[in-house]
Amino acid sequence: MKLYIETLGCAMNMRDSEHMIAELNSKEGYDLTDEPQEADLILINTCSVREKPERKLFSEIGQFAKIKKPGAKIGICGCTASHMGEEIIKKAPSVNFVLGARNISKISEVIHKNKAVEVGIDYDDSTYVFDTSRNTGVKALLNISIGCDKKCAYCIVPHTRGREISIPSDMIVSEAKKLAQSGVKELMLLGQNVNNYGARFSVQHKIINFAGLLREISNIDGIERIRFTSPHPLHMDDEFLEEFARNPKVCKSIHMPLQSGSSNILKKMRRGYTKEWYINRVQKLQSLLPNVGIGTDIIVGFPGESDEDFEHTMDVLRKVEFDTLYSFVYSPRPHTESYLWGDEEKVPQEIASARLAKLQSTHREILSTKAKKEIGKRHQVLIENIKETEGSFSEGRSDNGKVIKIPDEVFKIGDIVSVEVIHSEGGSLIGKHIR
Ligand code: SAH
Ligand code: SF4
Ligand code: F3S
Repeated sequence: MKLYIETLGCAMNMRDSEHMIAELNSKEGYDLTDEPQEADLILINTCSVREKPERKLFSEIGQFAKIKKPGAKIGICGCTASHMGEEIIKKAPSVNFVLGARNISKISEVIHKNKAVEVGIDYDDSTYVFDTSRNTGVKALLNISIGCDKKCAYCIVPHTRGREISIPSDMIVSEAKKLAQSGVKELMLLGQNVNNYGARFSVQHKIINFAGLLREISNIDGIERIRFTSPHPLHMDDEFLEEFARNPKVCKSIHMPLQSGSSNILKKMRRGYTKEWYINRVQKLQSLLPNVGIGTDIIVGFPGESDEDFEHTMDVLRKVEFDTLYSFVYSPRPHTESYLWGDEEKVPQEIASARLAKLQSTHREILSTKAKKEIGKRHQVLIENIKETEGSFSEGRSDNGKVIKIPDEVFKIGDIVSVEVIHSEGGSLIGKHIR
């Protein structure tokens, strides 16, 4: 039996897909294929955080329905499955089942039930998402919590993934040990709010916070690097920042989702912090770690965003000099607070697009200036990608998150090598191996 799976959205969805692949392989004997025409089961693991990908879903289902083998099944999983449920089957009768992001443990049941819809968000999937058996390389994703307890006004995720539950720390540690034994060197800890870890468990549990969890994981032999996504700026207290800075296994690059630089807009978004708090946290971090890499997510054109509000966002962009930026025009989503607001505060599409373009071009300029300043610096690079044929190179990430390409040298994937940056091309870094 062959499985074709398409995964959209964030790292949580990637991890969920890994689980479903492992489950379908061990319980039902499915092997992966890259060809949907060959598959007996086609899964789309969907994302609903913005409207556009969701609109594309139905044309995609139509395409798969046309090319699939007779008798092959189509299943829609993930966040769009959670929030549209049965409506998906009504709109697209070729779909055999719908499985929400909180219900992935039921994958091997639903494939046998025609027109099954499993989308409950109160369902406790927190220990299943922990099941083992998967293909591992040098890097692995590891869930530490599921769901999200925040109520950001624009965001559909709490509706699709339900309330936040932390996974017991002894399970996380024993899974991390197994991964280390199978050759994993770098762990990416996953949750919508990782630094709120420990707020709620579904079982009796000792008191532990995210800094404590980082300490426990970093004691594991073989795990060389720990990353995590996403932390929330509101929970970046001193204990967290100090653990982040001092723990030698924790990579010195961090995602700090800003969303907006305007305190007015942050309040309307219900982010729980102000521009000043955000900058204060960045300054604290940079005082502990002058070379820290910082990435962010920014939404432009949130309802009521004035030119002045947007200038505050630009101001934070210039002050922080982010290393990575994911930026989006606000997209109204059903089941969110801001969806219900009237049209009077809506930012016209042309204005929002112009703001996005300005934000992105300024960010590119900042990156290219920053890249020039990297020349001469030395980094430990974990090799993640190699090309052995003509034009050979190795490529990997430094501990502070910078991607560095090393031309004419072929290392092994998983090697950690010393590299000096020798020049920059735009925002990209080119280095040479220091022996
Ligand atoms: N838990 C993470 C975010 C998960 S959603 C956090 O709090 O940062 C990933 C990103 O999608 C968000 O950071 C946000 O920038 C973006 N996003 C979420 N809802 C959106 C919407 N309605 N319109 C545009 N972008 C949105
Ligand atoms: Fe969405 Fe906010 Fe939760 Fe992030 S913290 S997933 S933006 S509700
Ligand atoms: Fe998308 Fe769901 Fe992740 S909406 S961003 S796949 S949590």
